[in-house]
Amino acid sequence: MNVLLTGGLGYIGSHIAVTLLSSGYQVIIIDNLSNSKIGVLNAIYRITGTMPIFRKGDVRDQVLIESILHEFKIDAVIHLAGLKAVGESSQEPLKYYDHNVSGTISLLKAMQKFQVTKLVFSSSATVYGIPSYLPLDEAHPTNPQNPYGRSKLMIEEILRDVASTNNAMNILALRYFNPVGAHESGLIGEDPNGIPNNLMPYISQVAIGQLEMLSVFGNDYQTPDGTGIRDYIHVMDLAHGHLAALAFLIKSPPGFKVINLGTGVGYSVLEMVNMYQKVSGCKIPHQIKERRPGDIDICYAKCDEALKLLAWKAKYNLEKMCADSWNWQKKNLGIS
Ligand code: WQD
Repeated sequence: MNVLLTGGLGYIGSHIAVTLLSSGYQVIIIDNLSNSKIGVLNAIYRITGTMPIFRKGDVRDQVLIESILHEFKIDAVIHLAGLKAVGESSQEPLKYYDHNVSGTISLLKAMQKFQVTKLVFSSSATVYGIPSYLPLDEAHPTNPQNPYGRSKLMIEEILRDVASTNNAMNILALRYFNPVGAHESGLIGEDPNGIPNNLMPYISQVAIGQLEMLSVFGNDYQTPDGTGIRDYIHVMDLAHGHLAALAFLIKSPPGFKVINLGTGVGYSVLEMVNMYQKVSGCKIPHQIKERRPGDIDICYAKCDEALKLLAWKAKYNLEKMCADSWNWQKKNLGIS
């Protein structure tokens, strides 16, 4: 089965590529390298022994997508390409709606032209906004608080409409919680451009001495230790969730479904700091700072739907997430 991974050289995409290749899928990657590095291709080869087919390009280029769908006889698409920095999205909303929403529309038009009917979309728990109950199930109201989250929700609604008007389309939108960690080889991992926005990569750079001090954004949240709680999920668990999603699309009737990919367990910032210190043996200097605008107290998933429909459940705990992140950070002297 030939699978197109848009954004397939990125953090999550590269782990999905490794997982699909190791499971016998043919993997074709398109990536514009705006938030990824060409060296990741070689890392994927070193892990799997197979070099994925790669085309540099932007998912908004419908003609390029059509040529790839035709040339490689694509059977399914996993659509990861997009911008994902919450803070940046509030500064440059149009950039996010162009890349994320227009890019998806270009992809869908190309897919319809070449009757490619199976699609897995990288959505986000950010679409839920401020929880009105926990754990968050897929029926929880959606109310994203930033243009990034709104772009993901808009795309979900577009996918729902496309599936309802084209009864051959079979689409899954996977709402990721907080992906962290790295492949156990340490050859691929989270490699953000510039100063990391997210907690785990920031901590790992403090541990390795690249950054001096972690700012803990607020310790006055309604949580046991006052710091924010999130549902961190190992990126390899997430990748296996995509493998299960493809298997589901192959055997299920056409339609549109939304599924949470989380662990159902929340950890606080300080719990993450303590665990990272334990696995790395490094001190993580940190100081309490003001809350970050838009942050919520607690967020974690109800994962029943993924278990029922995909027969998938996350299996890695926080210690493994931190250990694999640390293993990657120690080896990652910067993929070129
Ligand atoms: C986690 C916790 C912070 C950094 C983001 C985005 C979105 C989504 C998941 C894709 C919070 C605290 C963080 C730091 C800190 N990904 N923190 N100091 O905000 O839950 O979600 O990632 O859809 O990109 O919504 O993740 O890692 O930024 O923050 O104290 O330097 O760590 O306040 O409580 P978040 P995060």
